Amino acid sequence: MQMLQSSIGRKLVMAVTGLCLVGFVIVHLLGNSSIFVGADGINAYAEHLHALGPLVWIFRLVLLGLFGLHIFFGIQLTLENRAARPIDYNQKKNIRTSFGAETMIYTGLAILAFAVYHLFHFTMHLTNPEISVGVLPLDALGRNDVFTMMVLSFQKFFISLIYIAAMVTLLLHLSHGVQSLFQTLGLLGSNTLPTMEKIGRAAAIVVFVGFISIPVSILLGLIKV
Ligand code: HEM
Repeated sequence: MQMLQSSIGRKLVMAVTGLCLVGFVIVHLLGNSSIFVGADGINAYAEHLHALGPLVWIFRLVLLGLFGLHIFFGIQLTLENRAARPIDYNQKKNIRTSFGAETMIYTGLAILAFAVYHLFHFTMHLTNPEISVGVLPLDALGRNDVFTMMVLSFQKFFISLIYIAAMVTLLLHLSHGVQSLFQTLGLLGSNTLPTMEKIGRAAAIVVFVGFISIPVSILLGLIKV
C-alpha cells in the first residue's frame, strides 16, 4: 500500500495493468480473427468462451479491476504531472516528446468511452437490439450466431466508423504506451530505447490493422452472410 503513495509505485501499477490489458487486446484480436474462417470459426469460438461458465465471470471481474486501476492511476498521474509542471511543454522546445505521449489521457478516455459503447453493443445488446444474439435465429448447429451479429452490425457504415475511429485512438495510445511500460519495467537502457520504441510502434500498428480489417472487410463485402 505504501508503494502506491510514491509516483514510481503508481507508474509500476500503470505498467503492469497496461501489460495485462495489451495481453487481453491481443488475445481478443486473435479470437475475433476467427471471423475470417467464416461463421463456423467465430460461432465455435464464442460457444467455447461461454461454455467456461463461472470462469467467464471471474475473468470479467479481473478485467474490470485492471481497467479500473489503470484508469484511476492514469488520471491521478496526469493531474500530478500537470500540477508539477509550471511551464507548458509547448514552450519547451528541447523536451523529447511525441503526439502519442502528449495525448495519453485523451486517447485513454476515448478508449474508455469506446469500451462502454462496445459492451452496450455486443455484450448487453442495448444499442442495436434488432441485430443481437438472442434475437437473431441460432445458426445451423444451434449456436448463438455471433457471425451474423458482427456482419449485420459492421454493414452499417456508422457503426464501422465508430470502431475504426476508436482503433485510431488505440493505435495512438499503444504506440506510446507499450514503450513507456517497457521503460517503467526497466527494460529500457539508453542503448535499447530506439529498439523498444520501434517494437512498441510495430505492436500498435499490428493491433490497429488486425482490428480494423474486420469492419473494413465487412464494409467491402469480403465477409457477408
Ligand atoms: C474491431 C474491433 C473489435 C471487435 C470486432 C470486437 C468484437 C467483440 C465481440 C463480438 C464481442 C462479444 C463476444 C461474445 O459475447 O461472445 C466482444 C466483447 C468484448 N470486447 Fe471486443 N471487439 C473489438 C475491439 C475491442 C477492444 C479494442 C477492446 C478493449 C479495449 C474490446 C473489449 C471487449 C470486452 C471487454 C468484451 C466483453 C467480454 C465479455 O463479455 O466478457 N474489444 N468484442
